[in-house]
Amino acid sequence: MSPLKIAPSLLSADFARLGEEVRAIDAAGADWIHVDVMDNHFVPNLTIGPMVVKALRPHSAKPFDVHLMVTPVDALVESFAEAGADILSVHPESGPHLHRTLMRIKALGKQAGVVLNPSTPVSALDHVVDLLDLVLVMSVNPGFGGQSFIESALPKIETLRRLVDASGKAIEIEVDGGVDAGNVGRLAAAGATVVVAGTATFRGGEAKYADNIRALKGN
Ligand code: DX5
Ligand code: ZN
Repeated sequence: MSPLKIAPSLLSADFARLGEEVRAIDAAGADWIHVDVMDNHFVPNLTIGPMVVKALRPHSAKPFDVHLMVTPVDALVESFAEAGADILSVHPESGPHLHRTLMRIKALGKQAGVVLNPSTPVSALDHVVDLLDLVLVMSVNPGFGGQSFIESALPKIETLRRLVDASGKAIEIEVDGGVDAGNVGRLAAAGATVVVAGTATFRGGEAKYADNIRALKGN
């Protein structure tokens, strides 16, 4: 089994020094850079747009994993693809035509993900599995960093592991929200291949990032 990938969420970074923060987590061993895009409409918070992703792009060669919590989502898919996103993940509730949105992401040459909120069933993926590179399992309700892990994410990850294995496709299973060194082992055992970590990466300041990421990787 390949090692668990760590995707630090910039939501917990110092927004006054975002470029430096991206370089610091890259150097500390981050596998992907997780970017939380919120619109104060689909979720009750407002973060960053494509111009910020474009400005950050030269600061790391690692994949930019863009989590879109916006509605309507379709026009922004294009903007974030142009800005340099590598992976674009969308919530089924954020647009009327999930299949079309995923087709659009693939046509832009990007990897496509679907995000399952805590209350969104795995059956939301029915009929779009062929288009997926990633499923993002929310283990908190989206909107804020620093929330507690919701345990019902675990059986959902196990169900997804079976679904992905049966599909024969190399679909990543990523978990987002309340991930820390105390629960990451259970997530990997359930079948996760990537974890998002905001609080758990950035706590303690820059001198701690490498230790924090190492602890999440289990060594
Ligand atoms: C929540 C975001 C998460 C969040 C994770 O809406 O999607 O990426 O920043 O933060 P932590 O790791 O602090 O729970
Ligand atoms: Zn996220």
